Amino acid sequence: MKLDLIDRIKSIRYALKYANDPITGMMENFEKYGETYSGYLGAIQPMMVTKNPEIVRHVLQKNHRNYIKTPMIFDKLRRFLGNGLLTSEGSYWLQQRRLIQPGFHRQRLEALVEIMDRVIIDSEKQLAGKEEMEIDIYPMMMRLAFDMVSRSLFSTAIEEKKLDFLSNSLTTLQSFLVQQIRQPYLNPWFRISGQLQEKLKLSQAADDILLDIISQRRASQEEHHDLLQMLLESRYEETGEGMTDQQLLDESNIIITAGHETSANALSWIFYLLAQHPLEVEKLRTELETVLGDRRPNFADLRQLPYTTQVIEEGMRLYPPAWITDRQSVADDEINGVHIPKGTMVVLMIYALHHDPQHWSDPAAFRPERFAPEAKKKLPPYTYLPFGGGPRLCIGNNFAMMEMQLVLAHYIRKYDFSLVQDQAVEMLPLVTLRPKKGIQLSLRKIA
Ligand code: HEM
Repeated sequence: MKLDLIDRIKSIRYALKYANDPITGMMENFEKYGETYSGYLGAIQPMMVTKNPEIVRHVLQKNHRNYIKTPMIFDKLRRFLGNGLLTSEGSYWLQQRRLIQPGFHRQRLEALVEIMDRVIIDSEKQLAGKEEMEIDIYPMMMRLAFDMVSRSLFSTAIEEKKLDFLSNSLTTLQSFLVQQIRQPYLNPWFRISGQLQEKLKLSQAADDILLDIISQRRASQEEHHDLLQMLLESRYEETGEGMTDQQLLDESNIIITAGHETSANALSWIFYLLAQHPLEVEKLRTELETVLGDRRPNFADLRQLPYTTQVIEEGMRLYPPAWITDRQSVADDEINGVHIPKGTMVVLMIYALHHDPQHWSDPAAFRPERFAPEAKKKLPPYTYLPFGGGPRLCIGNNFAMMEMQLVLAHYIRKYDFSLVQDQAVEMLPLVTLRPKKGIQLSLRKIA
């Protein structure tokens, strides 16, 4: 992988051309150069981009010890989010993962179904009681998913106004972060112009709100069934101690950030797909009706909704919220004859894996039956990775599946929906895969 000045210059041209459309750029490169190609990110960072499942597996699982989350990205993320599960490395990460993982075990999540269901019922307020309406489903799902994860963390301990502030500041901080990563040559300007300091202040204000909740909860005698309580009560095996306030803050920040935009994107795209597939909606309704009748779903019901699960899985295949992930090699490495020098950023292109005709017939078609139990067993390893893979697999995967099932079970039974005509729905791949200008749906109440 020998790269020179011309490649660096090319990489700036490429960054400018594809700043808002990296998926097209990368798919074109795969066509030109094959499953794996090399280049630079923003002229500075050597990188290798791949959609080869064996290389992806090697990096995420088989030789994961040789790969860390790319410092150029994660150092910045850490600055805003702190050092928690998503951003930490090595023995600290392992210690935190061991501590927190049991709280996200499927069975432990049962206690959250009630909170989630309440949030879903409340989310209908955004429809202002209308029988028929046109609505952009994306901001609605963003708010719903944000409330879902923050109420699962803090139940009623946080006021609506503060939730608004947190939600807005996270959006601002994230778009700033994306700019810093995609166009690293702007970083000196961000410092000089005071933009960096301004964003750090915003991040501090959001932290103060969370620290306040944490200290109130420590002082409280009440019993709570939420994730904060789980985090507060968890104890390190070696010392029997719990986490400090700073650790609780970092992990809460991470859970909120990692846990809302991803689900909101998945849900928005699933509604978009369903709005164009009435037969699949009918199948969903039949399943929901058979299992639930008029009841609201409980925890046990969620296992009885295989078709609903397949729809979600197929939605995340076509529009993976985490469309890309990356690591950096700690030492030289080699896999299938591909040399990966130390310090290379390895970009794992999940979107391309999910759309590769080598693994999926007619990859652009929406076909939930791809994930029927027998078909699912036959999927080659590391070709479907909505939640990542290896030891750093998403810790919230069961949480996310549960919340998405509950949201679909509610809205599919209560509303008919179709796409508003004459809109161009496009992807905007930032940290997660968003719809660029939202998704306008016509909703009509049926129950
Ligand atoms: C549809 C929804 C979701 C998707 C598609 C998703 C996707 C992912 C992916 C791909 C990773 C691994 C990233 C990597 O290896 O580089 C990840 C990690 C993570 N996710 Fe999720 N996620 C979702 C929902 C959630 C939820 C609801 C939570 C929390 C409530 C959550 C918390 C986390 C955390 C803490 C990590 C870091 C785990 C670690 O490194 O140990 N995610 N997620």
